[in-house]
Amino acid sequence: MARFLVTGGAGFIGSNFVHYTVEHTGAHVTVLDKLTYAGSRASLAGLPEDRVTFVQGDVCDGELVDGLVADADAVIHYAAESHNDNSLRDPRPFLDTNVIGTYTLLEAVRRHDARYHHISTDEVYGDLELDDPARFTETTPYNPSSPYSSTKGASDLLVRAWARSFGIRATISNCSNNYGPRQHVEKFIPRQITNVLDGMRAKLYGTGENVRDWIHADDHSSAVLAVLERGRIGETYLIGADGELSNREVLRRILLSMGCDEDDFDHVTDRPGHDLRYAIDSSRLRSELGWEPAYRDFDAGLEATIAWYRENEGWWRPQKAQTEADYRRQGQ
Ligand code: NAD
Ligand code: TYD
Repeated sequence: MARFLVTGGAGFIGSNFVHYTVEHTGAHVTVLDKLTYAGSRASLAGLPEDRVTFVQGDVCDGELVDGLVADADAVIHYAAESHNDNSLRDPRPFLDTNVIGTYTLLEAVRRHDARYHHISTDEVYGDLELDDPARFTETTPYNPSSPYSSTKGASDLLVRAWARSFGIRATISNCSNNYGPRQHVEKFIPRQITNVLDGMRAKLYGTGENVRDWIHADDHSSAVLAVLERGRIGETYLIGADGELSNREVLRRILLSMGCDEDDFDHVTDRPGHDLRYAIDSSRLRSELGWEPAYRDFDAGLEATIAWYRENEGWWRPQKAQTEADYRRQGQ
């Protein structure tokens, strides 16, 4: 039985990966998670105890990380400070977790010769014009805009250097914007859904013309498993499901689906340095590894996500007041 060490497994995408892995593989999963404001034990509820072990700790803790990597066949590194708006308020935790945390894991992986998969974002490539026919590929130059994306870019470059200089068995994937259950209410889609559920107005940054390329978290998970199983060592794979939509359009669909008027929202202060458009060309992943997304209908995935937040208020309620208080201070 394969032994996976999944960092950040109590966060949004990491917890979806753990649930997906338990359902679709025979692997045993050890989760290493610090349980920052973004992590929740409740996100791992219902998983069988003989398949999932939880360890609370920091990816920057060299001794702890060394012991866990020594016992793993593969390390899948999701743990990160992940929110652009937070990185603009206070960049320091992004440097610690995203850069030093990755360095700490890489050194342990090098000592124990574990297989390593690095989870990253398309935001390392900067942004595209709205009318640019190009999409990001594995050879697009890095050009990150925010403290978040620059620290993710830095961590990707560490992985490449450790692969080349020390021969670690690593792969990298850069994925587009994820949606689905268990995403923190600071992020765009859950913030709007829970605002409506709470009787507050939805909040759109700037004009809302910004485009994001949406993928369901389960499709991200199936792609990561494909890379782990069949990916070429040393390679980078872009993960995306052809889901480009403007923020304005996503918000319109949320509002209509929840019985609101499509104009029931406030325009709020724009994010400084706000990336205009992300778009992924995932041809390499599809042609080399035969991966295809299962969620081809964004509206159906969005409906299921809205239903999840309706039915799981106990999961998101503890995050909501503080998140909105932080946004209010910035006029957002
Ligand atoms: P998240 O903020 O929901 O979860 C992050 C998790 O990491 C939390 O459980 C948190 O407790 C944990 N964590 C933070 N610092 C830690 C530390 N020092 N040590 C151990 N654990 C720590 O993030 P997410 O949206 O699930 O993103 C997961 C990964 O996927 C990140 O690497 C992110 O860059 C990447 N990614 C996210 C998206 C997206 O749309 N959210 C898209 C592409 C890539
Ligand atoms: P977000 O979920 O923070 O993801 P990212 O910054 O990684 O793309 O934001 C997605 C888009 O939604 C982004 O263009 C910013 C915008 N946005 C809003 O319009 N209103 C909001 O309340 C939030 C949180 C984000």
